[in-house]
Amino acid sequence: MTLWGGRFDEPTDADLRALNDSLGFDRRMWREDIAGSRAYAAAIAAAGVFSGADLETILDGLTRIEAEFEQGHFQFAPGDEDIHTAVERRLIELVGAVGGRLHTGRSRNDQVATDFRLWVMQALRQVDALLHGLQAALVVAATPHTATLMPGYTHMQPAQPVTVAHWLLSYFWMLRRDRERLHDAHRRTAISPLGSGALAGTPFPVDRAALAQALHFAGSSENSLDAVSDRDFAAEFLFVLALLGTHLSRLAEDVILFSNPAFGFITLDDRYSTGSSLMPQKRNPDPMELARGKAGRLIGHLTGLLTTLKGLPTGYNKDLQEDKEPVFDAFDTVQRLLPVLTAVVRTLKLNPDRLQAALVDEMLATDLADYLVKKGLPFREAHHVVGSAVRLAQTEQIAFRRLPPARLRALSPLFADDVAQVFDFAASVDQRRAPGGTAPAAVRQQLAQAEAYLQTSAPIR
Ligand code: ARG
Repeated sequence: MTLWGGRFDEPTDADLRALNDSLGFDRRMWREDIAGSRAYAAAIAAAGVFSGADLETILDGLTRIEAEFEQGHFQFAPGDEDIHTAVERRLIELVGAVGGRLHTGRSRNDQVATDFRLWVMQALRQVDALLHGLQAALVVAATPHTATLMPGYTHMQPAQPVTVAHWLLSYFWMLRRDRERLHDAHRRTAISPLGSGALAGTPFPVDRAALAQALHFAGSSENSLDAVSDRDFAAEFLFVLALLGTHLSRLAEDVILFSNPAFGFITLDDRYSTGSSLMPQKRNPDPMELARGKAGRLIGHLTGLLTTLKGLPTGYNKDLQEDKEPVFDAFDTVQRLLPVLTAVVRTLKLNPDRLQAALVDEMLATDLADYLVKKGLPFREAHHVVGSAVRLAQTEQIAFRRLPPARLRALSPLFADDVAQVFDFAASVDQRRAPGGTAPAAVRQQLAQAEAYLQTSAPIR
């Protein structure tokens, strides 16, 4: 028996049931459904819809249902269409007809919107906590390397030397913005739709503000039509996770490249590498490739939901049932990914010799141009002169730093014997000490800022 069978002569076709039912995935909202029902029961009892004794009976029934779920022996019945109908059906079984009063003035439309918001709120909290952990791992990994040099790249071509801590911390700040977005999304998700009914509101004098408060929402919705059909919060959740996935994918790509033997900058811990079934020498960065791959899946979920939403007419439409699977899967994906990435970062082994060997003289070409600028040459001309010097070194197969001063002076009379000082990677890095730069002094400041953020950043409520 369904909860809405009254106006039908025939039962729903089995194939339609298989298509229509959402119990298979929305059962994971059982906690939220029971919490919402508890608060709603109290609110309509306070509104005079039923007696205090009936309220006690209903609350007692809900507590028993909660225990059944917790102990893993809640029995779903063949007629259960979704988690909302399952809980209500069981309530009536347990407490009798009085259980049928719970749904007074409530619709599954405001109920599902409430449950789903509550579910997303706790998911936002969990992702935020996991990101805090990854940020902490980045800080730990960066701390010993504020003066360790590595090549910095643009266009994936050697560009200028940077410090390893600077590279690692670049991801810290991406994650800080992701966390800010989680907090911000939470603010808009924490709005209670309860009391919106199916679409038009409720005729019973429920105290919607008290209801919202009882469920730890920050406020309640202003418009019942909007409240039952708004899935902005789900789309925002998916966007924040898609962008987070994009950041993790970039970190993954760096680790994949830098652990390639051609670079050899880092070695992944044995526990976080995999072998090949055929090639005995292989050491594959599978976790990082999965991180890169999962980003596609996360972006797909966002695109999918936005496409579902874009054509919907006013009010609730069953299309909205498509909101949950992408949100659940995005959460599960990120929840599986983050602990592994955090461990990879925590156990990352740097190979200082390989980092040092990858620093090529040409990465100091900008410093050489700056040298001429300090001697009075306009930068554009200095750029040209140094470009000629790079070409000269290459055609004559001389190391850039070994170009004889006389040959340099032929390109510009401003080159003096002190030019040798330019060819010092550490000195190059050391000069970039303006805040946000890669000099060890600036990076130590950056680390302190990162640590301060970790100390002060509050979890989501
Ligand atoms: N399972 C449904 C969903 O997830 C619950 C709401 C159903 N509402 C309705 N009017 N059929 O959207």
